[in-house]
Amino acid sequence: MAGWHRVTASLVGVLLLLLLLSARSRGATLEKCAGGNPRQSHRPPVVLIPGDLGNQLDAKLNKSTVVHYICYKKTDTFFTLWLNLELLVPVAIDCWIDNIRLIYNKTTHTTSSPPGVDIHIPGFGQTYSVEYLDPSKRGVGMYFFSIVQALADCGYTRGDDVRGAPYDWRKAPNENKPYFLELQQMIEQMATKAGGPVVLIAHSMGNMYTLYFLNQQPQAWKDKYIKAFISLGAPWAGVAKTLRVVISGDNNRIPVISSLKIRVQQRTAVSTNWLLPYAHSWPKDQVLVQTPTTNYTVQDYQRLYADMGFEDGWLMRQDTEPLVSDLTPPGVAIHCLYGTGIPTPAAFQYSDKFPDVEPTVTSGDGDGTVNLQSALQCKRWAGKQKQAVALKELPSNEHVNMLSNVTTVDYIKTVLFSP
Ligand SMILES: *[C@@H]1O[C@H](CO)[C@@H](O)[C@H](O)[C@H]1NC(C)=O
Ligand SMILES: *[C@@H]1O[C@H](CO)[C@@H](O)[C@H](O)[C@H]1NC(C)=O
Ligand SMILES: *[C@@H]1O[C@H](CO)[C@@H](O)[C@H](O)[C@H]1NC(C)=O
Ligand SMILES: *[C@@H]1O[C@H](CO)[C@@H](O)[C@H](O)[C@H]1NC(C)=O
Repeated sequence: MAGWHRVTASLVGVLLLLLLLSARSRGATLEKCAGGNPRQSHRPPVVLIPGDLGNQLDAKLNKSTVVHYICYKKTDTFFTLWLNLELLVPVAIDCWIDNIRLIYNKTTHTTSSPPGVDIHIPGFGQTYSVEYLDPSKRGVGMYFFSIVQALADCGYTRGDDVRGAPYDWRKAPNENKPYFLELQQMIEQMATKAGGPVVLIAHSMGNMYTLYFLNQQPQAWKDKYIKAFISLGAPWAGVAKTLRVVISGDNNRIPVISSLKIRVQQRTAVSTNWLLPYAHSWPKDQVLVQTPTTNYTVQDYQRLYADMGFEDGWLMRQDTEPLVSDLTPPGVAIHCLYGTGIPTPAAFQYSDKFPDVEPTVTSGDGDGTVNLQSALQCKRWAGKQKQAVALKELPSNEHVNMLSNVTTVDYIKTVLFSP
């Protein structure tokens, strides 16, 4: 059975790879870099900031107890914890959850990995860990690849003037302080080497990270080092889908896993709680979660967390809510690209089995993950900062697929090669 699974998986992988290769060779001959000169020398350096689940995580184990006899207690080296589909099959997933979960300390308001689990974020300053989530490069894990490849075709060099800034996406910015210092230093080095400012390209939650980062920087620093911020699929006001994630789990990305199982991991990720819809943009009387006895709106999170038996979640929400909830303008030229026309979860109705049951989902407009009203918050910055604010709708673009869409890639090239 396992062997069959593996053969099927590699066949699918090979097929996807072939499709990908044919698409690439076709693209390479047709593709022109904006500005007409494909090898022009004035290329602004590019930094890629991924979203939730958007870069690899490595783990090394030295545990005294495990949840199942098949789980490894000890490994000599780091191995890929995210994304490796082989760890997400039945039984193995229990080991995986016990390694990737975080433990929240109510006293310090910080999280840590379970005892004996050492987590490392590979590839800071490189692109491999954000191009493909799965190091085996199966199509399923393709992420920033199309963008990076398009830049390489325009003369960019991976790991030199196009670089990734992966981070521990389980946590919110309050627990990633050293990351922001590393990011700042990398931007300064790249700008100095290139003799000009850097373009930031962020996806999904990476936009919230980038906004937080820019809000911490003095305006003079931003004027000197940042040419533009290209924002793809940003959840500026949170996303309704996270409510389902914390209540009953969401196996959406990986259908082989049961929702209730993955919920264990998803609840402990502080960043999920950070991205619950924000009261500044959601109508205060809009019912987001409904049970036979109670209606919950953006104003009822404390009660919601209590009723679902996840009190730590309310603490995590309070710890992280103020980080960017003011939506202070980024203070750099910003381009917000957002997908529309894909049914996007907007509200959830639960039976009396709440919270241990799948909800009935009501959908609205968006990119399948980010609700349109959240993406559109970018508009509020127009006229509030002296730098340009541009919005670009991408009709029928799904949240992750928009990274590989030719319209997105062309837009990026236009920004890079405009004066
Ligand atoms: C593994 O953990 C034990 C304690 O649980 C410790 O004594 C040992 O030094 C650790 N080994 C390594 C290689 O870190
Ligand atoms: C939480 O952190 C405090 C302070 O470091 C420590 O004393 C306490 O043991 C921790 N609690 C748990 C449950 O680990
Ligand atoms: C919840 O709201 C719906 C309308 O959105 C209403 O029909 C229902 O009666 C409300 N339920 C409770 C328990 O208040
Ligand atoms: C790419 O995006 C454009 C603009 O939103 C859309 O019209 C087109 O269908 C997309 N292409 C693919 C292959 O999804």
